[in-house]
Amino acid sequence: IGSLVLTTIVAYLWGSIPAGYWMGKLLRGKDYDIREHGSRKIGATNVQRTLGTGPALIVLVIDLSKGFGPALLATLIPLFNGGGWGILVAGLAALLGHCYPVFIGFKGGRGVLTGGGALLVCSPLTFLISAITTIGTISIWKYVSLGSIVGGLTSMVCGIIFYILGVTHPGFFAAVSLPQLLYMLIAPSLIIIFHRDNIGRLLAGTERKLGQKVPEAG
Ligand code: G3P
Repeated sequence: IGSLVLTTIVAYLWGSIPAGYWMGKLLRGKDYDIREHGSRKIGATNVQRTLGTGPALIVLVIDLSKGFGPALLATLIPLFNGGGWGILVAGLAALLGHCYPVFIGFKGGRGVLTGGGALLVCSPLTFLISAITTIGTISIWKYVSLGSIVGGLTSMVCGIIFYILGVTHPGFFAAVSLPQLLYMLIAPSLIIIFHRDNIGRLLAGTERKLGQKVPEAG
């Protein structure tokens, strides 16, 4: 229990590192707050929209690592492992850290990349398949939010299939454990809930496409 609490705290603080917010300050000065621009989120999508593609790619890598790092730590270091549940706890804590960062008043992003980073540790095959459906959706329809939602649904479906195959076919190469399945159900559910304003805009036809510079409405 002690190591799970420690895992939660370390992963939450790690996930809280507001890379997109700091990128705004770095490029536009100390008075700039990315949360007053675009979708008002600190994620790579809004960094791309407000600061450009180069900065967005840097934030993308950092935000992925904020989920990947804690989840990997949870599997590698016995102190953080928590009997196999460490990855579930670390992934969710990092995701919530990104969405509710302690360092900037608990207003962050939607957790797609941070949640995805932990998914890469949890089930690399699911990460790959979800990345393909996400990128495919974005390339066809140009909505990053829609791609994120499709990717989230993909990882839920993969989690269920890989868990069942692991039970029915012992030794199945992509089997996931119960805590891993729970991560693959809970994290995407949270991410989809965090997209509720995007879903409203998608339904209303007012969601911004990738690269579309619309300063307000967000
Ligand atoms: O990762 C968040 C993305 O799916 C949507 O971001 O800024 O367009 O709301 P944004």
